[in-house]
Amino acid sequence: EALVVQIVLQRQEILHKSSEIHHLQRTNVELEGRDLTYEWVSQIMYLEALQLTSREEAGLEKPGTTMQQIPTYVTAVPNGTEKGLYMAVDLGGTNFRVCSVQLHGNTTFSLTHSKVAVPHELMVAKTSKELFSFLAKQIESFLKLHHGDHYATHLEKRGTGDSAQDTEIFSLGFTFSFPVNQVGINKSTLIRWTKGFDIADTIGKDVCTLLQQEIDALGLPVKVVALVNDTVGTLMARSYTSPGKTGTLLGAIFGTGTNGAYVERLENVSKLRTSKEVGDYDKSTGEMIVNTEWGSFDNTMKVLPTTPYDDALDVESNNPGIQMFEKRISGMFLGEIVRRALLTLFQDGKSGIFTDADSKANDLHSTTNVDSDSALFARWGLDTSFLSTASGDSSPGLRLTRQALAKDLSINAASIEDAEAVKVISTAVGKRAARLSAVAIGAIVVASGKLEKSTGNEEDDVIDVGVDGSLVEFYPHFESYIREALRDISQIGATGEKRIRIGIAKDGSGVGAALIALVADRMGTKAPT
Ligand code: GLC
Repeated sequence: EALVVQIVLQRQEILHKSSEIHHLQRTNVELEGRDLTYEWVSQIMYLEALQLTSREEAGLEKPGTTMQQIPTYVTAVPNGTEKGLYMAVDLGGTNFRVCSVQLHGNTTFSLTHSKVAVPHELMVAKTSKELFSFLAKQIESFLKLHHGDHYATHLEKRGTGDSAQDTEIFSLGFTFSFPVNQVGINKSTLIRWTKGFDIADTIGKDVCTLLQQEIDALGLPVKVVALVNDTVGTLMARSYTSPGKTGTLLGAIFGTGTNGAYVERLENVSKLRTSKEVGDYDKSTGEMIVNTEWGSFDNTMKVLPTTPYDDALDVESNNPGIQMFEKRISGMFLGEIVRRALLTLFQDGKSGIFTDADSKANDLHSTTNVDSDSALFARWGLDTSFLSTASGDSSPGLRLTRQALAKDLSINAASIEDAEAVKVISTAVGKRAARLSAVAIGAIVVASGKLEKSTGNEEDDVIDVGVDGSLVEFYPHFESYIREALRDISQIGATGEKRIRIGIAKDGSGVGAALIALVADRMGTKAPT
């Protein structure tokens, strides 16, 4: 009997402690969540963004501003009738992609592609050559595998000293998604690396030439005719595949990084008239696509929200003080923000996260449920895909989140309360990212002046936006959070928000780059020498 009483008492104590901890956990986590979400309407931030993207903005007038507003030399968006076979390669994040694209001329295309992860040592190599020769080798393998006949004919001709005809040479669009100083459709020098790449030797060099040199060293029948940012590719791909009466206004990426490119009136890109280094471009359309590089919006932190996790992440990143907007939005960083928030909650001990009685049910002698070698303690230890799982989890007992905690952080006996806390934090970080994304989209839509014009016909009034990237594709409700925030921006409101059509433009970096290679061919661009 005494034993039974003792057990009951112990159990009560555990239960009591556990509910107390649970309460603490909820309060702390919610406080934390509020810090990270910024539910307030980001009106000031939005106005700032508007100023930055509006035509008076310094970025369109002169080079060297934080938000670079890079003229792309692409002066028209496609209409779906473009035809031909082109090559495209894409370097912009964790993978390098090689594709050939057959444009059928009826808004459809066929695409063959291969993908390889860029080895980390090449992302931080000593010389550009190491990286670019790796890229050229991937192009060679792709040609051998998918265009073997073409390649063999070329090799034969080379053997006989017969020079290749232009028609035998593939025109290639190079999707290179880093800030560059573009002075022609196939001439761009790297300003700085982002997203984990860091090769000092490449800064200031023309990346088309670097790639062409390595292609030539292998004797491949390929001409780099255009340099394309992924956002520009997205814009082009979207216009080709879903041409509307008004054309697409904006192409945006919410993936490893974030950025947008939009159609601007040529007369507003005044730096094209005043800068010393300006290449040829077709003036007849009166428009040019501008790559905003909005990842660097508000690097001086006048209006962006911040938390101790954002600050610490920035200080320890390889580009402190740069890409501050991107560091709050994109896939490369969100997992790390969540990891830092969870780690702080765990370490300050007050929340009870990962330490409550249920969590350590498997091991009553342990005071915590986190192994010392858990990725919770490792910088960049948590992938952003974890956020998608936790935020979207509606499984009974948040089973999916608990499984992800076990798999990604080796936290094997997380309680339901732990999982709830993790979900609150993950949603807060994801939602903040989406609301910030809306600031950029909204600013461009308003600056375009399109909202002021209405034909009264719904289809003609559509303001089309093409998007791509892992966040829009996989993070639950990303678009609805964006829409919610767009409605909160007073210049847009519910009526304006309805006119904005957001559609995924898959394969922007493939088909979009092919389309730009086509534009470049029409302009008669010569391969870089
Ligand atoms: C980074 C790059 C930008 C790119 C974006 C999305 O912000 O600087 O060029 O478009 O990532 O990939």
